[in-house]
Amino acid sequence: MSIRDALKIPAADITDEWIYQQRRQFVSALALTPAILATGCSKAEPPGAVNLAAISPSLLNSGFVTDETRTLERDATTYNNFYEFGTNKGDPAKFAHRMTTSPWTITVSGECENPGTIDMDDIARKFRDQERVYRMRCVEGWSMVIPWLGIPLGDLLKTFKPTSKAKYVAFETLADRNAMVGMRYPSIKWPYREGLRIDEAMHPLTILANGMYGKKLPNQNGAPLRLIVPWKYGFKGIKSIVAIRFTEKAPTSSWNQLQPSEYGFFSNVNRNVDHPRWSQKSERRISGSEGKLFADRIPTKMFNGYADQVAALYQGMDLRKWF
Ligand code: MTE
Repeated sequence: MSIRDALKIPAADITDEWIYQQRRQFVSALALTPAILATGCSKAEPPGAVNLAAISPSLLNSGFVTDETRTLERDATTYNNFYEFGTNKGDPAKFAHRMTTSPWTITVSGECENPGTIDMDDIARKFRDQERVYRMRCVEGWSMVIPWLGIPLGDLLKTFKPTSKAKYVAFETLADRNAMVGMRYPSIKWPYREGLRIDEAMHPLTILANGMYGKKLPNQNGAPLRLIVPWKYGFKGIKSIVAIRFTEKAPTSSWNQLQPSEYGFFSNVNRNVDHPRWSQKSERRISGSEGKLFADRIPTKMFNGYADQVAALYQGMDLRKWF
């Protein structure tokens, strides 16, 4: 890791580093032994979407900003997960400049009346950036508070006129083997993929970010456009998106595909459902005070503190089964 010199991390912070190493070793082990991927998780289609129109718009829109202490820009841009550039936290900041992000086109297809492509200029012309200050909770046990710039995903999706068969939205990252040095390792079945249920995708908290800290999004954070779903674990926030597809069936998501018993399709932040190899009850903010990378441990909140805005989406669902 490059940030603040790994040697300076105090012993009390080692737990999160341990979890990170566990996940990394797990990914390497999977790459060598694909047979263990065949674990028995329910193949049933997840419970369907709720009608967002039935929920008060002011409730849905609340939560756009938190006044909690922001993570330092320096930390948010040098302590990253972007496995296409390597599995060390400092790799994306070191290698992501090799990715070309302009021009950039996103293909939109599947269950919609207006399939087509859109580029970043079209997006800039059609949508005004909005600032959203969100908490981001990583499955590995750390969290950040980041001022994003972006557009509501739902606003973009509506322009493609999804049909009534569009029950989910699937996303794919660029797969450029020349630029993305981490792709030479089969740690993940490339390209990186993610998916949301249509009501989650249309929720006003869900954005496509094109900037952070009032500036253009750095490559290591997923330039030029990445997903942010603040009530879900950070890995749902797929970076450098090149394809969006409306689907009738639940799409593949990379971590769920890698190990379904550890990473569910929904991946809502839930302190009551531990990761099989570690607890999810608490977290540490990046950045800590007095130059420390991690702050003291704090309890993790249900839906990452966005329960008022999103709990209705999962009413009646057994969140232990549909984790
Ligand atoms: N998107 C792609 N394409 N590749 C990745 O490896 N990592 C995910 C997510 N999006 C990842 C990705 C994970 S595990 C996390 S925690 C967040 O990005 C990290 O985002 P950040 O580096 O901007 O904090």
